[in-house]
Amino acid sequence: MVDLVGQYEARKSEFDAAISSVIHQAAFINGPEVDAFQKELEEYLEVKHVIPCANGTDALTIALWALDLPPGSEIITSDFTFIATAEAIARVGLVPVLVDINPHTFTINTSLIEQAITPRTKAIMPVHLFGQAANMNHIMEIAERHNLYVIEDCAQCFGANYIVKGEQKKLGTIGTIGCTSFFPSKNLGCFGDGGAIFTNDSELAVIIKKIANHGSQKKYYHSIIGVNSRLDGIQAAILRVKLKYIDIYNASRQQAAQWYNQRLKYINWITTPQLEPYSTHVYHQYTIILQDVSNTELQSFLQTHGIPSMIYYPVPMHKQEALQIFNPQQCPHSEFASKHVLSLPMHTELTESQVDFICNCITLFKP
Ligand SMILES: Cc1ncc(COP(=O)(O)O)c(C=O)c1O
Repeated sequence: MVDLVGQYEARKSEFDAAISSVIHQAAFINGPEVDAFQKELEEYLEVKHVIPCANGTDALTIALWALDLPPGSEIITSDFTFIATAEAIARVGLVPVLVDINPHTFTINTSLIEQAITPRTKAIMPVHLFGQAANMNHIMEIAERHNLYVIEDCAQCFGANYIVKGEQKKLGTIGTIGCTSFFPSKNLGCFGDGGAIFTNDSELAVIIKKIANHGSQKKYYHSIIGVNSRLDGIQAAILRVKLKYIDIYNASRQQAAQWYNQRLKYINWITTPQLEPYSTHVYHQYTIILQDVSNTELQSFLQTHGIPSMIYYPVPMHKQEALQIFNPQQCPHSEFASKHVLSLPMHTELTESQVDFICNCITLFKP
C-alpha cells in the first residue's frame, strides 16, 4: 500500500544526516530539532501556534481536554473514521455523537449536523478523510450560529488547501484547533509515532502546551494535571527533512491519482474519488466505490494477483462494540461505504507502470 523504504532511499543521505545529528547532540527529548520543526510547521501552515506531541490520538485528546468542557458534553463527529476520533472524545468524558457521511466524499454530511445539535453539544469534530476536506464553510457557519468549537481531525489531509470566503488556508487552521498524526504512512509521516496540534488561539495554546507537558510551564511546577506527550528529537529531525518536500510528495500522490482516474473511468461498476471545488485532495488514500460488488470480493481477487488493497473502514463507528454505550444512530451511507469502498496502493513512489498493472488486473475482474 505504501513504499516507505523507497521514500527513505530517495533521500537517504538527508535522513541519515538528520538522525545522526540528533544522536551526536544527544538531544533526544525536546531540544533544537523539535523547536525548529515547530517553527517551520507554523510557517508552512501559516498558523500562530503548533504544539508537537506524541501521536495523533493524543493530539485529539489534548485538544478536547484543553476546552475544559462539562462532563457528558456532546461532540458531533463523523461515523466513518478511524476509532481514534471517537475514542479521544470518550477518553476525556465526553459523548461522541456520530453523524452519517456524504456518500461521495466520505466526510461528515453537513446537512445532518444541525439535527444532531442538542443543548449539550459543545463542538463539531470533522475528519478530513482520505485527504479530502469536509465542507468547512458549512461547518464553520453552523458552529458560529450555535456557538460551538470546531476541532479538525487532519490526520489524513496534511498539506491540503481549502478556500474559506475566497481566501486559501491550510486544512487544520480553519477551526478552533487542528490535530494531526505523523504516523509513518501519513502524508507527512515520521519513522515512529508523532503528532501535532495547531491553533491561532494564544490562550488555548498555553493550556494545550501545559497539558502535553505534565501540566507544567516551569520545570517541576505543575498547575494542572496533564500527560507526557512529546515528539522526540529524532522524529522531529526526520519530519524537518520531509516537510521541505511535502508539496512535492503530495503532488506525486495527485499524479498517481490522475493515472488511476484515467484508467478506471471506463469501468462502469467503479466510482473514482470525487473532487470538491473548495479544497485540494492530497490522496492519503485513493479510495474507489464499487457498485454491486463487495469490497472483500475485489480485494481477494487482487490479492491472488499480488496486489495489496485495504478496506478503510470495514466497521463504521456506530457498529463498534466500544461505542454502543453512547446509543449511536444508524448511518446508512457509512454502512454502505464499509462494504463497498476499497483503497488501492497510494504513495509517493508509485509509478505509472505500477498503476497500469493494478488497473489492468482490475479490468480482469468479472463482477
Ligand atoms: C482520522 C484519524 N484520526 C486520528 C488518528 C490517530 O493518529 P495516531 O495513530 O498517530 O494516534 C488516525 C491514525 O490513523 C486517523 O487516521
